[in-house]
Amino acid sequence: MQYRTFGPLDWQPSALGFGAMRLPTLDDDPARIDEPLATRMVRYAIDHGVNYVDTAYPYHRGESERFLGRALQDGYRQRVKLATKMPTWLTKEPGDFDRYLDEQLERLQTEHVDFYLLHSMNQEKWPQMQELNVFDWADKARADGRIRHLGFSFHDTLAAFKEIVDGYDGWTLAQIQYNYMDVEYQAGTRGLEYAAEKGLAVVVMEPLRGGQLTKEPPPSVAALWAGAPARRTPADWALQWVWNQPQVSLLLSGMSSMQHVEENVASAARSGVGTLTPAELAVVDQVHTAYRGLCPISCTNCKYCMPCPNGVNIPRIFEIYNDSVMYDDLKRAQAFYQWVSAENRADRCVECGECEEQCPQNLPIIEWLKKAHELLGKAE
Ligand SMILES: NC(=O)c1ccc[n+]([C@@H]2O[C@H](COP(=O)([O-])OP(=O)(O)OC[C@H]3O[C@@H](n4cnc5c(N)ncnc54)[C@H](OP(=O)(O)O)[C@@H]3O)[C@@H](O)[C@H]2O)c1
Repeated sequence: MQYRTFGPLDWQPSALGFGAMRLPTLDDDPARIDEPLATRMVRYAIDHGVNYVDTAYPYHRGESERFLGRALQDGYRQRVKLATKMPTWLTKEPGDFDRYLDEQLERLQTEHVDFYLLHSMNQEKWPQMQELNVFDWADKARADGRIRHLGFSFHDTLAAFKEIVDGYDGWTLAQIQYNYMDVEYQAGTRGLEYAAEKGLAVVVMEPLRGGQLTKEPPPSVAALWAGAPARRTPADWALQWVWNQPQVSLLLSGMSSMQHVEENVASAARSGVGTLTPAELAVVDQVHTAYRGLCPISCTNCKYCMPCPNGVNIPRIFEIYNDSVMYDDLKRAQAFYQWVSAENRADRCVECGECEEQCPQNLPIIEWLKKAHELLGKAE
């Protein structure tokens, strides 16, 4: 295992952390974790040097934390730093902070979590957390030893990311989605560099884009990998690319089979800052461009079309549609579309055409919305 640096702490994290969000399950039911297999996977990772485990209140419908409470028995808890997350969408009043943390400690069968993250922060939740005086609460929870360090996980724009980084001087870590396709998405490379410059540890999630970068690649991408100066699996290319960045403290992979764990542990052992050659990095750039070339709607997410008078979340719907085509992953796209509130879905379009007047790309937005709803709304 390779070890890296972790922001302000005098502690070295393993390059690979275990993300407990995509554990193997029985009968495709997220709440039914295949516990014997998942326990072997977590313990194999720790026995091979992994020292960071990440979970959250809602993962596997609440069973991820309970599972880890059991899997980290027999001395494994003491060998790792444990991160879990406050369910920020459920905390409505200050008393909720204690209630959820105490429940999580009980689930995890531990007296403290090393890293407590405000889950999935964005520009809506950030002011709510401040209004609830979350930092005063965190000071107390740190003082009484239930949490060691505070951080946040993040899904929103770069501007929102910077505001949150700058809005509190007690952060130890930020957790961002980052991979070679998302260099300009959400926090992106600029956010990674910004947080690291401010002294925060940066934990990377979705380094394989939740598995999208490991699927059978489209022919244009497969040809580039075949002609690359080194032979690697698509997963190894994606992971090594993240580890190549000096600002990354560690990456979390949500491994769902023993083979994933063995492969990613072996990848981590070969990892390091600057290990990819300029020629290899150029191939990854070309793969990025090739995937982008498959993008059917040339929406740049400028949001000039917003707000839609009828509430349609046009940029988000186009993003989901584009991903479904680029990564040939309709199932995941349909699931993401379900998470868009019914009032913001494409079938709310009344064809007023205001958006098309504003679109600098002159996109036929109304037609694309119809196509998107037809494809993505099928799971309804
Ligand atoms: N806080 C947040 O908002 C948030 C959001 C997302 C994630 N997270 C955390 O970050 C962790 C990592 O994110 P992620 O789970 O999206 O990570 P990821 O590594 O991008 O995706 C994991 C998926 O990649 C595939 N995979 C992993 N290793 C592979 C290998 N060697 N070969 C082929 N395929 C492989 C598997 O997909 P298949 O099973 O489909 O093959 C696996 O389920 C999560 O587990 C969670 O702990 C947090």
